[in-house]
Amino acid sequence: MENIQKDIEKIKKEKKAIILAHNYQRPEVQDIADFVGDSLELSTKAKDTNAQIIIFCGVHFMAETAKILSPEKKVILPRMDAGCPMADMVTSDGLLELKNQYPDYKVVTYVNSTADVKALSDSCCTSSNAINIVRNIDSQKIIFVPDRNLAHYVSRFVKKDIIPWQGFCPTHERLEVKDILEKKKNNPEAKVLVHPECKPEVIDIADRALSTSGIIKYCHEDISNTFIIGTEMGILHRLQKENPEKKFILASERLVCPNMKLTRLEDVYKALIDEDCIIELSVDVIKKAKKALLNMYRLNY
Ligand code: 13P
Ligand code: SF4
Repeated sequence: MENIQKDIEKIKKEKKAIILAHNYQRPEVQDIADFVGDSLELSTKAKDTNAQIIIFCGVHFMAETAKILSPEKKVILPRMDAGCPMADMVTSDGLLELKNQYPDYKVVTYVNSTADVKALSDSCCTSSNAINIVRNIDSQKIIFVPDRNLAHYVSRFVKKDIIPWQGFCPTHERLEVKDILEKKKNNPEAKVLVHPECKPEVIDIADRALSTSGIIKYCHEDISNTFIIGTEMGILHRLQKENPEKKFILASERLVCPNMKLTRLEDVYKALIDEDCIIELSVDVIKKAKKALLNMYRLNY
């Protein structure tokens, strides 16, 4: 293991590549990354880096987002089979049909979506800025794709006419109220933090619903000692590493995203050597999807 870590470090320097990893990645992958973060932070990093090669340790839509924002760079996804089932729940044809049915609605699309779907959208959003985007976009009528739970969460704060697409994250939908109540029984003083991709009834009993980096920030700043965490288990690595004196309890052992667990150090090493698994998108899709992503930055205030 130590050898492969050193080899990755060496080739990365030689090739002037940057390794980005999502908060759900395997601990050893997070540890060799130059930057670990949530979807918004990773997009911003991909947009602003000078590196010409980006190795993206995450899932397909995240690497696509990096490519859209930095089309001149080589964006590599070490495991091309690392997809996101929620992103695949809406297709461009399906969205076009809905847009034709509701022509006066603006489309806000969660970044957990394909580049083709982003290209048909007015603005993108992430879990950390969805409320701002829906609030600030210049329309009272919104089609929100693909996550029905994030759409519902946003509707708690923004009173607009929102048509949600019926997509969901299979990992987060596995979390039930009874899981949290059970963990709470032995840790009554614990704060409950969940992701907005969880079901509304789960969010109802949580102290806060936050993006992955939002959860990390909250745990740093809050005076509590114990936290029940309702999101994918990969986040516990950073939480425990950065707050060794605090206690983190995963709300359910079923909170595992198989796609986020695919990338191993061997895949990162191979990706650096071979420079295959390259994300390629058409100029037209990049142009349209980039507009939606840049609108997200513009509307995030
Ligand atoms: P974050 O943007 O909160 O990191 O979420 C990404 C994701 O895929 C959640 O399932
Ligand atoms: Fe997609 Fe859910 Fe996995 Fe996030 S946790 S990548 S939304 S399947």
